[in-house]
Amino acid sequence: AKLGIVIPAAGQGKRMGAGYNKQFLTLMGEPMLAHTVRLFEQSSYVSEIVVVGAEADVPIIVELVHHHKFDKVKICKGGVQRQDSVRAGVQALSSAIQRIVVHDGARPLLTLEDFHRFLDETEKFKAAIMAIPVKDTIKQVHETGKVIATLTRERLRAVQTPQIFDRAILAEAHYQAVSAGYYGTDDASLLEWMGYPVQVIEGSQENIKVTTPEDLWLAERILAMREARSST
Ligand code: CTP
Ligand code: MG
Repeated sequence: AKLGIVIPAAGQGKRMGAGYNKQFLTLMGEPMLAHTVRLFEQSSYVSEIVVVGAEADVPIIVELVHHHKFDKVKICKGGVQRQDSVRAGVQALSSAIQRIVVHDGARPLLTLEDFHRFLDETEKFKAAIMAIPVKDTIKQVHETGKVIATLTRERLRAVQTPQIFDRAILAEAHYQAVSAGYYGTDDASLLEWMGYPVQVIEGSQENIKVTTPEDLWLAERILAMREARSST
Protein backbone atom coordinates (compact mmCIF):
# COMPACT_ATOMS: atom_id res chain seq x y z
CA ALA A 1 0.00 0.00 0.00
CA LYS A 2 1.16 3.53 -0.73
CA LEU A 3 2.51 5.28 2.34
CA GLY A 4 1.85 8.92 3.20
CA ILE A 5 3.24 10.93 6.11
CA VAL A 6 1.40 13.60 8.08
CA ILE A 7 3.68 15.92 10.04
CA PRO A 8 1.77 18.13 12.48
CA ALA A 9 3.89 21.29 12.86
CA ALA A 10 1.19 23.87 13.54
CA GLY A 11 1.70 24.31 17.28
CA GLN A 12 2.84 27.46 19.04
CA GLY A 13 5.66 25.99 21.08
CA LYS A 14 4.50 27.70 24.25
CA ARG A 15 6.51 25.50 26.59
CA MET A 16 9.69 26.25 24.62
CA GLY A 17 9.11 29.95 25.14
CA ALA A 18 11.05 31.05 22.05
CA GLY A 19 8.38 33.57 21.08
CA TYR A 20 7.80 31.77 17.78
CA ASN A 21 7.11 28.21 16.59
CA LYS A 22 9.85 25.96 18.01
CA GLN A 23 9.94 24.00 14.70
CA PHE A 24 12.09 26.77 13.25
CA LEU A 25 14.69 26.71 16.01
CA THR A 26 17.94 25.35 14.62
CA LEU A 27 19.75 22.13 15.45
CA MET A 28 23.25 21.78 13.97
CA GLY A 29 22.50 24.89 11.91
CA GLU A 30 19.23 23.69 10.37
CA PRO A 31 15.61 24.21 11.42
CA MET A 32 14.19 21.35 13.51
CA LEU A 33 11.44 20.85 10.93
CA ALA A 34 14.00 20.34 8.14
CA HIS A 35 15.56 17.46 10.09
CA THR A 36 12.14 15.86 10.56
CA VAL A 37 11.06 16.18 6.93
CA ARG A 38 14.40 15.01 5.53
CA LEU A 39 14.07 11.60 7.14
CA PHE A 40 10.88 10.86 5.21
CA GLU A 41 12.21 12.43 2.01
CA GLN A 42 15.08 9.95 2.22
CA SER A 43 12.92 6.88 2.80
CA SER A 44 12.09 5.00 -0.39
CA TYR A 45 8.92 3.65 1.27
CA VAL A 46 7.36 7.11 1.45
CA SER A 47 5.47 8.52 -1.52
CA GLU A 48 3.93 11.68 -0.07
CA ILE A 49 4.47 14.00 2.90
CA VAL A 50 2.02 16.58 4.21
CA VAL A 51 3.47 19.22 6.52
CA VAL A 52 0.72 20.90 8.53
CA GLY A 53 1.58 24.45 9.53
CA ALA A 54 -0.11 27.36 11.26
CA GLU A 55 -1.44 29.88 8.75
CA ALA A 56 1.16 32.50 9.72
CA ASP A 57 3.98 29.94 9.34
CA VAL A 58 3.00 28.64 5.90
CA PRO A 59 5.22 31.08 3.93
CA ILE A 60 8.22 30.07 6.10
CA ILE A 61 7.49 26.38 5.50
CA VAL A 62 7.13 26.96 1.75
CA GLU A 63 10.56 28.59 1.77
CA LEU A 64 12.06 25.77 3.89
CA VAL A 65 10.71 23.09 1.53
CA HIS A 66 12.00 24.99 -1.50
CA HIS A 67 15.42 25.61 0.06
CA HIS A 68 15.91 21.93 0.92
CA LYS A 69 14.42 20.73 -2.41
CA PHE A 70 11.99 18.43 -0.60
CA ASP A 71 9.97 17.13 -3.53
CA LYS A 72 7.48 14.83 -1.78
CA VAL A 73 6.04 17.63 0.35
CA LYS A 74 2.64 19.26 0.28
CA ILE A 75 1.74 21.94 2.82
CA CYS A 76 -1.61 22.45 4.48
CA LYS A 77 -3.07 24.69 7.17
CA GLY A 78 -3.43 23.42 10.73
CA GLY A 79 -6.06 23.88 13.41
CA VAL A 80 -6.45 24.90 17.03
CA GLN A 81 -5.49 21.55 18.56
CA ARG A 82 -2.97 18.98 17.33
CA GLN A 83 -5.89 16.69 16.50
CA ASP A 84 -7.41 19.34 14.21
CA SER A 85 -4.06 19.70 12.46
CA VAL A 86 -3.68 15.95 11.89
CA ARG A 87 -7.26 15.71 10.59
CA ALA A 88 -6.49 18.45 8.04
CA GLY A 89 -3.27 16.68 7.06
CA VAL A 90 -5.03 13.36 6.49
CA GLN A 91 -7.55 15.07 4.21
CA ALA A 92 -4.76 16.70 2.22
CA LEU A 93 -3.14 13.38 1.23
CA SER A 94 -3.97 12.20 -2.27
CA SER A 95 -6.52 9.40 -2.59
CA ALA A 96 -3.90 6.84 -3.65
CA ILE A 97 -2.48 6.86 -0.12
CA GLN A 98 -3.88 3.91 1.82
CA ARG A 99 -1.55 3.82 4.80
CA ILE A 100 -0.59 6.81 6.95
CA VAL A 101 2.20 7.56 9.37
CA VAL A 102 1.71 10.50 11.71
CA HIS A 103 4.94 11.95 13.10
CA ASP A 104 5.41 15.12 15.16
CA GLY A 105 7.40 17.91 13.55
CA ALA A 106 8.96 18.30 16.99
CA ARG A 107 10.58 14.81 16.90
CA PRO A 108 13.59 15.50 14.67
CA LEU A 109 15.70 12.64 16.07
CA LEU A 110 13.93 9.62 14.61
CA THR A 111 16.45 7.64 12.55
CA LEU A 112 15.86 5.99 9.19
CA GLU A 113 16.89 2.70 10.78
CA ASP A 114 14.25 2.98 13.54
CA PHE A 115 11.61 4.17 11.09
CA HIS A 116 12.21 1.23 8.75
CA ARG A 117 12.23 -1.22 11.67
CA PHE A 118 8.91 0.32 12.75
CA LEU A 119 7.44 -0.15 9.25
CA ASP A 120 8.64 -3.72 9.20
CA GLU A 121 7.26 -4.60 12.65
CA THR A 122 3.89 -2.90 12.07
CA GLU A 123 3.13 -4.41 8.66
CA LYS A 124 0.51 -6.79 9.98
CA PHE A 125 -1.31 -4.25 12.18
CA LYS A 126 -4.00 -1.77 11.16
CA ALA A 127 -2.88 0.60 13.91
CA ALA A 128 0.45 0.69 15.74
CA ILE A 129 2.49 3.17 17.73
CA MET A 130 6.05 3.60 18.97
CA ALA A 131 6.47 3.71 22.72
CA ILE A 132 9.17 3.13 25.34
CA PRO A 133 9.14 1.75 28.89
CA VAL A 134 8.99 4.48 31.52
CA LYS A 135 12.01 5.00 33.75
CA ASP A 136 10.34 6.87 36.58
CA THR A 137 7.76 5.60 39.02
CA ILE A 138 4.45 7.15 37.95
CA LYS A 139 1.82 8.08 40.52
CA GLN A 140 -1.71 9.22 39.93
CA VAL A 141 -2.39 12.27 42.10
CA HIS A 142 -5.39 14.25 43.21
CA GLU A 143 -5.65 17.98 42.35
CA THR A 144 -4.60 18.73 45.94
CA GLY A 145 -1.36 16.82 45.44
CA LYS A 146 -2.43 13.83 47.52
CA VAL A 147 -1.39 10.50 46.01
CA ILE A 148 -4.22 8.31 44.72
CA ALA A 149 -2.23 5.35 43.44
CA THR A 150 1.16 4.15 42.24
CA LEU A 151 0.79 2.63 38.77
CA THR A 152 2.51 -0.63 37.86
CA ARG A 153 5.58 0.55 36.00
CA GLU A 154 6.05 -2.67 34.02
CA ARG A 155 2.73 -2.03 32.29
CA LEU A 156 3.35 1.65 31.48
CA ARG A 157 4.69 3.04 28.22
CA ALA A 158 5.65 6.57 27.23
CA VAL A 159 4.11 7.08 23.81
CA GLN A 160 5.97 8.61 20.89
CA THR A 161 5.40 9.06 17.22
CA PRO A 162 5.59 7.59 14.56
CA GLN A 163 2.09 6.15 14.71
CA ILE A 164 0.86 4.16 11.70
CA PHE A 165 -2.72 3.50 10.55
CA ASP A 166 -4.75 2.14 7.71
CA ARG A 167 -6.14 5.30 6.18
CA ALA A 168 -9.80 4.28 6.37
CA ILE A 169 -9.59 3.63 10.11
CA LEU A 170 -7.69 6.83 10.91
CA ALA A 171 -10.04 8.96 8.81
CA GLU A 172 -13.07 7.32 10.43
CA ALA A 173 -11.67 7.86 13.95
CA HIS A 174 -10.99 11.55 13.25
CA TYR A 175 -14.44 11.96 11.73
CA GLN A 176 -16.18 10.34 14.72
CA ALA A 177 -14.06 12.28 17.21
CA VAL A 178 -14.74 15.68 15.65
CA SER A 179 -18.47 14.86 15.43
CA ALA A 180 -18.55 13.94 19.12
CA GLY A 181 -16.25 16.78 20.22
CA TYR A 182 -13.85 14.19 21.60
CA TYR A 183 -10.18 15.17 21.94
CA GLY A 184 -7.30 12.82 22.64
CA THR A 185 -3.62 13.70 23.03
CA ASP A 186 -2.49 11.38 20.25
CA ASP A 187 -4.10 9.76 17.22
CA ALA A 188 -4.12 6.24 18.62
CA SER A 189 -6.30 7.41 21.52
CA LEU A 190 -9.09 8.18 19.03
CA LEU A 191 -9.02 4.56 17.84
CA GLU A 192 -8.93 3.32 21.44
CA TRP A 193 -11.96 5.52 22.13
CA MET A 194 -13.72 3.74 19.26
CA GLY A 195 -12.71 0.33 20.56
CA TYR A 196 -10.08 -0.44 17.88
CA PRO A 197 -6.99 -2.44 18.85
CA VAL A 198 -3.68 -0.55 18.81
CA GLN A 199 -0.31 -2.33 18.87
CA VAL A 200 2.75 -1.00 20.67
CA ILE A 201 6.20 -1.31 19.08
CA GLU A 202 9.39 -0.58 21.01
CA GLY A 203 10.64 2.93 20.30
CA SER A 204 13.97 4.62 20.92
CA GLN A 205 15.18 6.66 23.91
CA GLU A 206 16.73 9.10 21.43
CA ASN A 207 13.42 9.82 19.68
CA ILE A 208 12.56 12.67 22.06
CA LYS A 209 9.94 15.34 21.51
CA VAL A 210 11.56 18.74 21.68
CA THR A 211 9.25 20.50 24.13
CA THR A 212 11.26 22.64 26.58
CA PRO A 213 14.67 24.39 26.30
CA GLU A 214 16.52 21.43 27.90
CA ASP A 215 15.19 19.19 25.13
CA LEU A 216 16.74 21.45 22.52
CA TRP A 217 20.11 21.16 24.22
CA LEU A 218 19.76 17.38 24.44
CA ALA A 219 18.68 17.10 20.79
CA GLU A 220 21.72 19.09 19.68
CA ARG A 221 24.00 16.81 21.74
CA ILE A 222 22.49 13.66 20.23
CA LEU A 223 22.88 15.00 16.69
CA ALA A 224 26.46 16.09 17.38
CA MET A 225 27.25 12.64 18.75
CA ARG A 226 25.80 10.96 15.64
CA GLU A 227 27.79 13.24 13.35
CA ALA A 228 31.01 12.52 15.27
CA ARG A 229 30.36 8.79 15.02
CA SER A 230 29.63 8.82 11.32
CA SER A 231 32.79 10.80 10.51
CA THR A 232 35.16 8.30 12.16
N1 CTP B 1 0.73 20.72 16.70
C1 CTP B 1 -0.05 21.02 15.58
N2 CTP B 1 -1.18 21.77 15.70
C2 CTP B 1 -1.57 22.23 16.90
C3 CTP B 1 -0.80 21.93 18.06
C4 CTP B 1 0.36 21.16 17.93
O1 CTP B 1 0.30 20.60 14.46
N3 CTP B 1 -2.67 22.97 16.98
C5 CTP B 1 1.98 19.96 16.54
C6 CTP B 1 3.22 20.68 17.06
O2 CTP B 1 3.67 21.62 16.10
C7 CTP B 1 4.18 19.55 17.35
C8 CTP B 1 3.26 18.38 17.68
O3 CTP B 1 1.94 18.75 17.29
O4 CTP B 1 4.99 19.19 16.25
C9 CTP B 1 3.34 18.01 19.14
O5 CTP B 1 2.85 19.09 19.92
P1 CTP B 1 3.64 19.88 21.06
O6 CTP B 1 4.96 19.23 21.32
O7 CTP B 1 2.69 20.09 22.17
O8 CTP B 1 4.00 21.27 20.32
P2 CTP B 1 3.35 22.69 20.57
O9 CTP B 1 1.88 22.55 20.71
O10 CTP B 1 3.89 23.58 19.51
O11 CTP B 1 4.02 23.10 21.96
P3 CTP B 1 3.27 23.66 23.28
O12 CTP B 1 2.24 22.61 23.64
O13 CTP B 1 4.37 23.79 24.28
O14 CTP B 1 2.66 24.98 22.89
MG1 MG C 1 0.99 21.40 22.35
